[in-house]
Amino acid sequence: MNQGLKEWIKFAQEDVEKALLKQLPLITTQPTTIHKAMHYSVFAGGKRLRALLCIAAAEACGSDQNNALFPACALETLHTYSLIHDDLPCMDDDILRRGKPTNHVIFGEGIAVLAGDALLTEAFAILLRTEEVAPYKSRDFFKVLSDASGSQGMIGGQTLDIEAEGKIISSEELKQIHALKTAALLQAALILGGMSAGASKQQIDALGSFGKSLGLAYQVIDDILDLTRSSSELGKTAGKDEKVMKATYPSILGLEEAKSEADTLTRQALESLGVFGEKGSRLKEIADYMLLRKF
Ligand code: IPE
Ligand code: IPE
Ligand code: MG
Ligand code: MG
Ligand code: MG
Repeated sequence: MNQGLKEWIKFAQEDVEKALLKQLPLITTQPTTIHKAMHYSVFAGGKRLRALLCIAAAEACGSDQNNALFPACALETLHTYSLIHDDLPCMDDDILRRGKPTNHVIFGEGIAVLAGDALLTEAFAILLRTEEVAPYKSRDFFKVLSDASGSQGMIGGQTLDIEAEGKIISSEELKQIHALKTAALLQAALILGGMSAGASKQQIDALGSFGKSLGLAYQVIDDILDLTRSSSELGKTAGKDEKVMKATYPSILGLEEAKSEADTLTRQALESLGVFGEKGSRLKEIADYMLLRKF
């Protein structure tokens, strides 16, 4: 990774950590158990990719990052909820996340379900603190995030993911699962960042198609890493997909084809950035970095 990107990511991640701490209820708030459980997973050290994409999208549209920090925090809060629930025994049944025992291992299943519920709810409260920038109203931000995360977005994808376990499905069906369970939220991250900067319709469309292809690439790579990396490298249980017969690109197409699919999708994503000219270079760098990531 080049030095400029490395520094940009470091500073943006620090801003996001600080903003999250400010936006979420304090850990000492009553009832403390739920706030401890929420903080435990939010501050367990995720890559903050959705926040970074949101901030970089705002920058590509010519704004400083301050207003983008609200949607960025909302996205990370909502994403953390999705991981807590994804790890539950009734879902992927995972005991390791972000290098630590999963939320339900520490707090029990009941509190883990509630911590997820609370983070989902808080995400929208945080999102509503975004300053309105013409032509966008708070309800426009709300709609983008609720569409991306609801039953026709991420939850729809998680539903199809559960139903596909142990079954043979086509690569087209798998693409639909990935589009919903992962790409929808990444796409929302880019669009919300653009909206927080008052992006034009043309810019929003470009961010949307960039996010869709990038989000698809992101899940293909997640599936590849599950197969090829160790649990200590990933901070989550490796080799799990194969064990429970998850439908993944490597299982359907083989590892090499899956890698070339991730390449193709990333290249497709980059094609959408033309409208931003030089200002799109940060988004391009992040896309390249995501393709080469090791965890
Ligand atoms: C994991 O997301 C779940 C997927 C959608 C692939 P990340 O890889 O972004 O996880 P964190 O936030 O860095 O822990
Ligand atoms: C999860 O996909 C997508 C979510 C919406 C949480 P995975 O089940 O592959 O994510 P990991 O591998 O557990 O992070
Ligand atoms: Mg899952
Ligand atoms: Mg999982
Ligand atoms: Mg995975």
